[in-house]
This record gives sequence, structure tokens and C-alpha cells, in this order.
Amino acid sequence: MEQYAIKGGNPLVGDVEIGGAKNAALPILAASAMTDETVYIDNVPDVRDINVMLNAMQDIGVAVRHAGRHKVILNAGNIHSLVAENETIKKIRASYYLMGALLGKYNCAEVALPGGCDIGCRAIDQHIKGFRALGAEVVIEHGLIKAKAARLTGSHIYMDVVSVGATINVMMAAALAEGLTIIENSAKEPHVVDVANFLNSMGANIKGAGTDVIRIKGVSRLHGSEYTIIPDQIEAGTFMFAAAVTRGDVTVKNIIPKHLESITAKLLEIGCEVEEAEDCIRVVSSKPLLHTHVKTLPYPGFPTDMQPQITAALALSRGTSIVTESIFENRFKYVDELTRMGANIKVEGNTAIIDGVGRYTGASISAPDLRAGAALVIAALSAEGFTLVDDIRYIERGYEDFHLKLQNLGAHIELVETEKEFQKFKLRVG
Ligand code: EPZ
Repeated sequence: MEQYAIKGGNPLVGDVEIGGAKNAALPILAASAMTDETVYIDNVPDVRDINVMLNAMQDIGVAVRHAGRHKVILNAGNIHSLVAENETIKKIRASYYLMGALLGKYNCAEVALPGGCDIGCRAIDQHIKGFRALGAEVVIEHGLIKAKAARLTGSHIYMDVVSVGATINVMMAAALAEGLTIIENSAKEPHVVDVANFLNSMGANIKGAGTDVIRIKGVSRLHGSEYTIIPDQIEAGTFMFAAAVTRGDVTVKNIIPKHLESITAKLLEIGCEVEEAEDCIRVVSSKPLLHTHVKTLPYPGFPTDMQPQITAALALSRGTSIVTESIFENRFKYVDELTRMGANIKVEGNTAIIDGVGRYTGASISAPDLRAGAALVIAALSAEGFTLVDDIRYIERGYEDFHLKLQNLGAHIELVETEKEFQKFKLRVG
């Protein structure tokens, strides 16, 4: 099993190219199955969750070709099954996007109940509520969500919670329903807007994405398209906090600064310098980090997917910080691992109270989920001595070439498989 071997202490310095947004790419790939014509998607990140989605789509008959590492060509003209239940699809959360896509196009879909990172109870009641409002019968049986309808008709849907997944899923199905659908209290994340833009590029009629009311006038068919996915806001934010934690100077390139405003604001509050240009942001961390408070919220609030990374920074800051997680109830599992590295953090319910300690020390740790894993790597890069990070498969779900991008910024980080390789790494960089 591969692990990351890390020697901390090098400030990260240089430029890093940010890839396409995983959480936009997953629904956009699923939505590509809503037309029989060919779709060309560019800036698709080469990460595990994406490859699982593409395999599941191939399993039901979607033709998938790669034209280079980040360009995928799909044709769903010969779908032979509306049941997506292969072993791997169960492991990713985004499997549910095949529901909205297939239900919209064929009025019928059966998809394995979603898995994904274990960060709390991840209900799907709002997805089901939306599909039912469009006229589908939905049941959960034998580990599958099954939905079918004689025809889908537009409806007025109020989301009881702000949900990225439910907003996108219902928007996809409604794109091919008869008449007008209005989704109220919809999620406003950049990837919701990206999916709406993609569907519109295929001939859908969706207005209001990015606000909390989305209006979808159903169309009878969608056509082929060429589309480029937006940059990954969370990958960018992760490298920005890596600069902060390692006292570095990093420019994240190929990004949309507007999507990173809440992250930039917090970096300024904790004493980093942040310079914005049209499609890049430079973060310089030259002064001692300051404490602050943060609460995760739906966009444009501070993203839950950046909560572990900011906690890793605050654990090094001067003073006491409070981090409140308001989206998922089980997203502090990494705190035990940071504690092994010397952090002083107490978790009470959905709140972490952090007393800054000034330094981490290397330890043997495990990544409990995707973003927490990235945060632990960042902490290890600033720690005194060596760290071995286990369970890096979680990190590979959502970060392409994470260790290579960090190496390019001057980090001592390598993949190792055995204790012997770890010892060799220590001798080499020690
Ligand atoms: C998406 O998950 C992302 N995943 C998550 O990214 C991200 O953390 C999350 O949005 C919030 O931004 C993908 O895009 C594949 P939600 P999703 O529906 O869609 C509750 C990462 O690290 N809820 O917006 O599952 C839910 O329990 C991952 O890349 C219901 O109650 O999140 C949660 O408390 C992890 N009923 C809140 O809403 C529902 O039907 C927000 O969930 C749906 C959600």
C-alpha cells in the first residue's frame, strides 16, 4: 500500500497549475449521457473519483475515449442499461448524478446508493423529494435508488437544506421535463453554475444558477457540445493554505479568483499577504500566523471542503481559534492525527477549539478522508522531522499528482511502499 513519506521544514515556493474541478466534472460527465450526440469535455482532472464515474458510464454502454490526459470524448447513443450498480460506483458520492441524468433522458434509472468520504450522515432526501416533485416514483430497494416516471413534468421545488448534489441532480432531470421547474433555496457553488452552463451548451434552458432560485424550462432534447470545466476551487485553496502553513510563497495559476474570495479573506485575517491577478493568486506567508474564527457555510461562505486545511494553519497560529463545521457533522476525525503531530485542539460537537502551538512534529498518521488527508500532508510539510501518511488513496480521490505538484514547490515528499523505502527516503533527504 502506498504512503507519503514527508520531511517537513521546507517553505513551499513557486507556481502551481490548478486542474479542473472534480465536483463540477463528476456531474458534467454524468450529464453528457443526456444526449445521443458526442460530447467533448476538457480540463477533466485525472483523479480516482472521475475514473470510477467514467468506468460506471462505460458499464452501462456510454462510449468513453480519452484525447490526452484531461480531454474526454463521450457518446451515450448506445446506452444498454439504466442500472448503474457496479462495485466501484457504490464507493463514490457522485454516483447519484447518474440518477438525474438517466431519469431526465429515459424517465427511468436505478443507481447504487452513494458512498463517498465518511464525513457524516449524507442524506439524499432532497434529491428524492425533487425527483418525486417532477412526477417520478422513487423507492430504495436492495441497495439501489430506483426512479421511474411515465413522463417528467416541471414543478416548484423548495429545498429544505442547501444541497449541491440535490440542486444539480434535480436541475439535470428538469432540463428534459415538460414545462417549467423552479428550484428554490438552491446551492450557489461555482460547480452548480458550471453544470448549468454545460447543460445550456447542450441546448437546455436554465436561468438563475449561482443565485438561490433556479428556473429551468424543459426542452425536448439535448445535443452534443464542447465544454471546458472550471478550475478546482478546493485544490487551489489547498495550495494557498499549504503556502500559509509552510511559511512559503506560492502562486496558484489557472484559477478564478472570485471563487476563492472566502479563502483569500481568511488568509489575510491570519496574516498572509495575498496578491490577486486575473487568473492567479500569490500567497506569501512571512509573518507569524494569527488566530481567527471560521464557520463553514454554503457558497459564498467558507467551504466545508477547506475546513481541515484552515484548521491545520490555525493550530500553528498565535492565540485561540474556533472552527465551526455547519455542513457535515463528522468532519473533525483528522484532529486526532494532528494531535499526534503536536496540535492542541479540543472538539466539542461541531466546534473545534484550537490553541496555537507554533510548530508540528513529524509522526505516523492516516488520512481519514480526502480533504483531511490533504490537510495532514500540509501540516507534515511544515513539521520538524519525518512523517509517514497512510491511506493516501483518499487523497488520490480528488487531487491529481498531489505529491508531484508539492515536489515542484520544493517539498520533500515521496511515495513509498515499504519501511525499507521510507528508511531510504530518510537517508536521502535527512
Ligand atoms: C458535495 O457533496 C461535494 N461532493 C462535497 O465534496 C462537499 O463537501 C459538499 O458538496 C458541500 O459543498 C461532490 O460534489 C461529489 P450537499 P454533497 O448535498 O452534494 C445535507 C469533497 O471533499 N443534505 O451539499 O453530498 C447533507 O447531509 C466532497 O470533494 C440533506 O440533508 O453535499 C449536508 O449536511 C466531500 N439531504 C448538507 O445537506 C440531501 O438530500 C450539504 O450536502 C442532501 C444533502
